[in-house]
Amino acid sequence: MKEKKFTIAVLPGDGIGPEVIEQGVKVLKAIGTIYDIQFDLQYADIGAVAIDKTDEALPKSTLQTCMEADAVLLGAIGDPRFDDPKLKVRPEQGLLALRKSLGLFCNVRPVRAYENLLDLSPLKLEYVSGSDLVIYRELTGGIYFGEQGRKKNNTYAYDVCGYHIFEIERIVRLAFEAARLRKHKVTLVDKANVLESSRMWREVFDDISKEFADVSTDYVLVDNATMQMILNPAKFDVIVTSNIFGDIISDEASVICGSLGMLPSASLGEKHSLFEPVHGSYPAAAGKNIANPLATILSVALMLRHLGVEAGALQIEEAVAHCLDEGFLTEDLCIDKSMACTCSEVGDAVATAIRQPVV
Ligand code: IPM
Ligand code: MN
Repeated sequence: MKEKKFTIAVLPGDGIGPEVIEQGVKVLKAIGTIYDIQFDLQYADIGAVAIDKTDEALPKSTLQTCMEADAVLLGAIGDPRFDDPKLKVRPEQGLLALRKSLGLFCNVRPVRAYENLLDLSPLKLEYVSGSDLVIYRELTGGIYFGEQGRKKNNTYAYDVCGYHIFEIERIVRLAFEAARLRKHKVTLVDKANVLESSRMWREVFDDISKEFADVSTDYVLVDNATMQMILNPAKFDVIVTSNIFGDIISDEASVICGSLGMLPSASLGEKHSLFEPVHGSYPAAAGKNIANPLATILSVALMLRHLGVEAGALQIEEAVAHCLDEGFLTEDLCIDKSMACTCSEVGDAVATAIRQPVV
């Protein structure tokens, strides 16, 4: 068999980014060995580390590396040194520019309740048990990328939320296709009782739903959706929504699985793809080897699935479930923090479970 080779742009970024990426890479290499796949890893800077070196959050060379790669694996972005709203260059701009430049319009955020983490959720067991949903968040439009600025002598600020029909169509279609492989249900989360852009989302959603007669649909207003997410998360299958609403409800959804440290994501475009944990750079934990690497490791699984290495993706997901069963838990997953494993111990445990799968 011809050896497979993939070029992966690896962007560790800020805060805990480098630590969790190290564990993700460990796991990726373990899969490479087993399946005889060569991963050519091209490291590059983004975010605060890039600003420190080049004064730019997304240096041209980093963008070039990402453009040439088969996929991008990203850690986290953000640094409190850049919190001052008056600063012109901020780390987050690097991520937004990367998403836009690579055309990553579709952000997929799966959320599932792991049975042995249910105790960690502040929600009642019977509410969370059986939850398995996925958020399709539009990622290159809406209020994140509309016109913004200040007017009237700096006494008025504005951010415009606009959507083109084609931007809605392409993500809604992907959400329906995903539902066909799942529980055949798509929920549109919007604010159509107030926002014109939401009303257009509904029109497009209705049109596309006609092509998917086997998929049931509903709309939930975002304020109600945040409540339903806590009261009855198991009722959701695929959620499709705009950039800002998707940002908000995906952090909220992390409560279902007990920790934001468990949520992976895939950002997909026509030509490019990027995989990153949903969590941020968690500056307070940086360098302490305490962060949960599982969101990044599970993002590596999503990356392999996207690259067509389904067996490797499944093997990672099984290894993660096995390590959770065996009690390899970072402190965010431990009720008794003195029992916690370190970030690298969890990475080692997953890599070991991959090399010696339990049958
Ligand atoms: C996310 C993050 C980003 C976003 C920030 C870091 C710009 O919160 O990926 O959810 O708002 O999209
Ligand atoms: Mn977010």
